[in-house]
Amino acid sequence: MKPSTFGVLADGREVLEYTLANSAGMSARIINYGATVTSLFVPDKDGNIEDVVLGYDSLQGYVNGSEYFGAVVGRYGNRIAKGQFLIDGQQYQLTINNGENHLHGGKIGFNKVLWEAEVLNDSGMPAIRFTYVSRDGEEGYPGTVTLKVTYALTHDNELRIDYEGVTDKPTILNPTQHSYFNLSGNFTETILGHSLMVEADKFTPVDEGLIPTGELASVENTPLDFRQPQTIGERIDDPFDQLVLGQGYDHNWVLRDYTGDGKIHKAAQLYDPSSGRLMTVFTDQPGIQFYSGNFLDGGAIGKNGIAYGHRTGLCLETQVFPDSPNKPDFPSAFLKPEQVYRQTTIYQFSTR
Ligand code: GLA
Repeated sequence: MKPSTFGVLADGREVLEYTLANSAGMSARIINYGATVTSLFVPDKDGNIEDVVLGYDSLQGYVNGSEYFGAVVGRYGNRIAKGQFLIDGQQYQLTINNGENHLHGGKIGFNKVLWEAEVLNDSGMPAIRFTYVSRDGEEGYPGTVTLKVTYALTHDNELRIDYEGVTDKPTILNPTQHSYFNLSGNFTETILGHSLMVEADKFTPVDEGLIPTGELASVENTPLDFRQPQTIGERIDDPFDQLVLGQGYDHNWVLRDYTGDGKIHKAAQLYDPSSGRLMTVFTDQPGIQFYSGNFLDGGAIGKNGIAYGHRTGLCLETQVFPDSPNKPDFPSAFLKPEQVYRQTTIYQFSTR
């Protein structure tokens, strides 16, 4: 697997793009800047192979953009209220970069740094491992964290992502993958016609800053009920308070089959009737953030010069719940030096 030059950073460092390709016609392109998936080529029901993730043609787009297209976000995926939390009675202050809150690791999160890349030749499938060492104090986080993210493309058309992180001081860690999917492969179309199922009976309601209130609310009789497949556009503009606050879907669902011991369970299923592409998400995480691309407004000019309009891509971010460090009843995002952070998430593609 020979990488190609994707671009050069302002400080002269080269950004490389790697291609993982399997025998079933699927391929993924990934750059070492942000450990970002730039393209994901997936067959449709007639065997046509198209790209199903939003992204930029050039490095400059990723350097300047604020959408987190395709990147690994961290240290903490999603929001921490006022960027504050306590460890052993000591308060830490993170960078504030989203209203009065901290979002996706801060101003220079894991999506805005260059990772070390190592092609893995012994796993029986195309795979690449990225490593980033986040220094003590970076964006306000305590402890030096070393995070390894391994992307593998299985021969069954799964993009598998394994995370492994360690720290030298107590800290918090909750990385996630921020690809924007549009299974139609046509990024001039919205995702409103896709159907979604989420394996959750509850979600975490948010306040006006999109910080969870702490409550676990039932999805029953709400537009957040995706226990059965639902067309995303059907209820997205309902005058339901949570949808008004999120400007659409931008919520964390409480995954029913989470066990807490690393067992991988089905989290969600996304289907595009026009192409027949079906994506199933598996994870060992307790939550999934479904973000319906509400902040896309045509301002980002993506691959092939296409301006990404409102809701032309959606994210399914597997994670510990937003603001968990301040919510004792939520699954914990704390990491101690004697522990190892692990996450496995699989995006599996098929057709129907
Ligand atoms: C996450 C957040 C959204 C938004 C996007 C990036 O999904 O929950 O509110 O910040 O990332 O634009």
